[in-house]
Amino acid sequence: MIAQTEMLLTPSSAPSTDGPINSVGSGRLLGRVLVACEYSGAVRDAFARLGWDAWSCDLLPSEGPGNHYQCDVRDVLKEKWDILIGHPTCTYMSNSGVSWLHKSAERWMKLFEAADFFGELWNADVPHIALENPVMHKYAKRLIGVKQSQVVQPWMFGHMEGKATCLWLKNLPLLTETNNVKTEMMKLPINQRQRLHYLPPGPYRWKERSRTFSGLANAMANQWTLATRPNS
Ligand SMILES: C[S@@+](CC[C@H](N)C(=O)[O-])C[C@H]1O[C@@H](n2cnc3c(N)ncnc32)[C@H](O)[C@@H]1O
Repeated sequence: MIAQTEMLLTPSSAPSTDGPINSVGSGRLLGRVLVACEYSGAVRDAFARLGWDAWSCDLLPSEGPGNHYQCDVRDVLKEKWDILIGHPTCTYMSNSGVSWLHKSAERWMKLFEAADFFGELWNADVPHIALENPVMHKYAKRLIGVKQSQVVQPWMFGHMEGKATCLWLKNLPLLTETNNVKTEMMKLPINQRQRLHYLPPGPYRWKERSRTFSGLANAMANQWTLATRPNS
């Protein structure tokens, strides 16, 4: 396991939104957040900015500075966490890839593994859990056995594009939209408002398509901090 730690960033090295990471006035952290399967640091940094001891974990290194475990997240799930947010790999569970299932037996095995992994995150011993994935096909839905809590879109959080994103929530409230730009977005040509769908093929396409939108990350951090730490 590799742990990269950068607790305090200067404003110049912090991500572009809203000031330095972990810059709580009192210096007291709100609790521990684990963001599983995140290389971008988007959700980690949004929580860290509000004063959480926030860690991302991915098999890949973190794209930017911040607390990051580079390992299988199952190796750190047993630590004490207050909130777990997970973006498990969707390759075998997503509805957009369902036709591939019927082309190879190996993909069914991968689907079973992906559903087990989803279940391990969902059943982790953490008081508040949110898992995120695209719309799943019927086989995946049946295997994971829990219904999504809500479906959100980037345009609900200020981004002029669409991408249906499902959230499974345990002991966390539904997210409320923060800046609905659907009307403006609909004036754009389809290849802009469905930018991710139209990305050209290439080795980094999956990464670009899976990166969490900053507006969604900020909504998670703001709204779930309010819900779990109402007096902070
Ligand atoms: C769909 S991407 C999510 C990306 C995320 N939304 C972000 O902004 O960084 C899934 C990620 O899960 C990671 N992953 C897959 N299996 C993992 C595991 N067992 N432990 C930790 N990370 C894992 C992959 O490396 C990949 O980066």
